[in-house]
Amino acid sequence: MWIKFFRLRPTAIILASILVLVAISTFVFFNDEAKPTVSVGQLQELLSRPAPESAQLAPELKKSMLERLEKGQHTFRYDTFGDEAFWGDTLQLHRAIAGKKLGGVGPGVSPKEALAVGLKVDVEALPKNLVKDLKAGKVDLDDPASTLVLLENDAVVGLTGFFDKKGNLSSIGIQCALCHSTVDDSFAPGIGKRLDGWANRDLNVGAIISLAPNLQVIADRLGVDVATVKKVLASWGPGKYDAVLLMDGKGFAPDGKSAAVLLPPIFSLSGINLHTWTGWGSLVHWNAYVANTQMRGKGTFFDPRLNNPSKYPIAVKTGDWNIRNKPDLVTPKLADLHVYQLALIAPPAPKNSYDKKAAQRGEKLFNEKAMCARCHIPPVFSEPGWNMHAPEEMGIDAFQADRSPDNRYRTSPLNGLWTHQKGGFFHDGRFADLKEVIEFYNTIFKLNLTDREKNDLVEYLKSI
Ligand code: HEC
Ligand code: HEC
Repeated sequence: MWIKFFRLRPTAIILASILVLVAISTFVFFNDEAKPTVSVGQLQELLSRPAPESAQLAPELKKSMLERLEKGQHTFRYDTFGDEAFWGDTLQLHRAIAGKKLGGVGPGVSPKEALAVGLKVDVEALPKNLVKDLKAGKVDLDDPASTLVLLENDAVVGLTGFFDKKGNLSSIGIQCALCHSTVDDSFAPGIGKRLDGWANRDLNVGAIISLAPNLQVIADRLGVDVATVKKVLASWGPGKYDAVLLMDGKGFAPDGKSAAVLLPPIFSLSGINLHTWTGWGSLVHWNAYVANTQMRGKGTFFDPRLNNPSKYPIAVKTGDWNIRNKPDLVTPKLADLHVYQLALIAPPAPKNSYDKKAAQRGEKLFNEKAMCARCHIPPVFSEPGWNMHAPEEMGIDAFQADRSPDNRYRTSPLNGLWTHQKGGFFHDGRFADLKEVIEFYNTIFKLNLTDREKNDLVEYLKSI
């Protein structure tokens, strides 16, 4: 019967359709009219309401994260992982620092000399009366005894002195903060508040190790004489260290240049896959690598990629690819250390340190014409995924890449570039400044940048 109705009355169907359309459009129209009745003020009020309980961090989670951050910071700043057995007991570095007069050997290291090799002093660790004396010039900065006072107060960033009952310096250990922290110079050059995560580009690690009275153990590991070890250490210079020397025994590149690389900053590393200049592994891999094989803390480290006699003869000979200590003083610290590292963020560039307008133009160039963002993907500035490139793709030599397991260079994260302009850029500091970096890319990737565009890119890099 319905079918009949439709067949018989096509005009009724058209009418009904029109009615439906009118009803729908009235509804839409009415709703459109209704929208603006929520005022901007009301919207702001809605948005500023606290998130519902379910969207806030549970108090116990907040508490546990804070505890882990604090523990991680403590490890980063103060934990030697038992490495004083190496730096003190074996290398005898503490004796060179104390000097003959105070039970050691040689002239000792005065605070002035310590500052000159790039060591930093944490002013907040010093007792108030000592700070007063320092201000009044009453502390003899030419006397190694003053260095021992600083060590007693845990005020030398990255170094821990151990003292015996008579108050003599009996050993010394090192921490992550030695290379990856500096100070803000707020008291005096080299003396101030700690800045964790910053690369200490003043630090002359080679010169410091060279002071050690017993370098024979390093010479034995490398199968060379002490004079050769000293030659290698002297080649590093400020801001550099070679974390692969004890694996492959290479002190120099084939062109005779030092095999050391720049100390990198370690902030803004969360969200990034592989770490180090040559992408050795994750943050956790590298932390364990450094703590055990470089600082020579007493823990556990396993990386069978190093059990390769042609590439890493020293690691195979010494067994450094498979380190097992009991008790393990490193592994229980790795998790919280990781949490702390992930929380370290590059500090924003000081307002007047770059030209804002030029930086804005530079950002556009970075993402478009210069194609930097092909690899340096903001905001992490490295590739999500496998962030590695062959040397020939980068147009640079393969020496350092070939010392790592994947024979490649990792796309450097670029946050906080302004904090490490000393020592140059790229793994070995081959480009003295950011302008040289841009000139290099302009040539290698045929970018056809004008002088103004190059300058804009530099200003942008200084701003991130
Ligand atoms: C003697 C100096 C020194 C000490 C001490 C040191 N590091 Fe490093 N660190 C370096 C150097 C040099 C590199 C670069 C190595 C490379 O690329 O071959 C590096 C690289 C890193 C990286 C990779 C950064 C990036 O851009 O991916 C992390 C993370 C790191 N270190 C963390 C630590 C932690 C954690 C400790 C303490 C357990 C530590 N380091 C102790 C010198 C040091
Ligand atoms: C093909 C990928 C790729 C492209 C494209 C690229 N980069 Fe890089 N960039 C890298 C890699 C890999 C490194 C590390 C080189 C090394 O360790 O020697 C690097 C290093 C850098 C560094 C040095 C960081 C430091 O800490 O020393 C800067 C600055 C930089 N790039 C800026 C740029 C700019 C600006 C552009 C665009 C003009 C660009 N990059 C284009 C892959 C790339």
